[in-house]
Amino acid sequence: MDLATMTAQLERLRADALAAVAAAADPAGLDAVQLEFLGRKGALTEVLRGIGGLPAEDRPRVGAVANDVREVVEAAIAAHGVDLRGAAMAARLAAEAVDVTTPGRRIARGTRHPVAETIAAIDEVFGRFGFVVFEGPEIEDDVTNFQMLNIPSDHPARDLWDTLYVDIPDHLLRTHTSPGQIRVMRETRPPIRALLPGRCFRYEAVDASHGFEFHQVEGLMVDEGTSLADLRGLLDEFAHALFGAGRATRFRPGYYPFTEPSVAFDVGCVVCDGVGCPACGRSGWMTILGAGMVHPVVLRNGGIDPETYQGFAFGMGVERIAMLRHGIHDLRLFMEGDLRFLGQFR
Ligand code: PHE
Repeated sequence: MDLATMTAQLERLRADALAAVAAAADPAGLDAVQLEFLGRKGALTEVLRGIGGLPAEDRPRVGAVANDVREVVEAAIAAHGVDLRGAAMAARLAAEAVDVTTPGRRIARGTRHPVAETIAAIDEVFGRFGFVVFEGPEIEDDVTNFQMLNIPSDHPARDLWDTLYVDIPDHLLRTHTSPGQIRVMRETRPPIRALLPGRCFRYEAVDASHGFEFHQVEGLMVDEGTSLADLRGLLDEFAHALFGAGRATRFRPGYYPFTEPSVAFDVGCVVCDGVGCPACGRSGWMTILGAGMVHPVVLRNGGIDPETYQGFAFGMGVERIAMLRHGIHDLRLFMEGDLRFLGQFR
């Protein structure tokens, strides 16, 4: 063995190793190349075994070349390793890619029921005048639903309310929200400004304008010096807020056992604007609620002295108001839960 031969062997080893490095297709292949050429039992060790056969002065020179080969091959392995890991990462990123521009899955969003939406609109208007929302029970006792409201058991006025009785003695599904007047008067003291929205029930044959289940909003104000003029002004504000600022309004005489005097409150027909059309029976007017000054007997039943305090009350059908606001012609739609109908109230 001489210097030239060994140097030539080392040069070839370097060339072979660099070619093998370049050919390695993945990190495992690269590890194998490292082992094959630079490992403890690898090709470089094999070549250097012959170093003992060289003259002493040539050994450092071969050592220098061998070190140089090791450094170059190690550097090539390191560099190719970076490339391979980058390529592996790029391949993984491509394989696991998520298209962030794909539209997401929509969550079906519900809509507010038109009855709830109308109650909220009514609450909002009266809220501006200091009215606070209360709620009474849907199963009411006969005394509160009728007798306290000046409707004795044998009074023909009972015929105004077609009643659903329940299996509890002297209880019924409330026929109107007016019993809430009694409850509010007993629970609070004047001045009272209460709003009572809620579900009511009547023994009715169901058709486009009658339901056995419907909603009302009751209003009650009790204070010193409360008058019919205050009621009129308040209801005008309400009608203008819900049906337009220029809407005509009127009071007509009415009858309820628990108000005296009693009135029907009409607005100019929302379809023909007062001209007269089939929707308003050609009268140009539509009745939207019943109202009146709270009967002294009712005030007393609520624990309030009618010599000191006066009050007014009103009650309106929510479905009817919603029908007028949205041009709905069949009251049954409110209870059917048909999404084609409900989805229109966004
Ligand atoms: N409770 C009455 C009804 O159901 C409406 C009403 C309420 C009338 C308050 C006057 C005062 O028809």
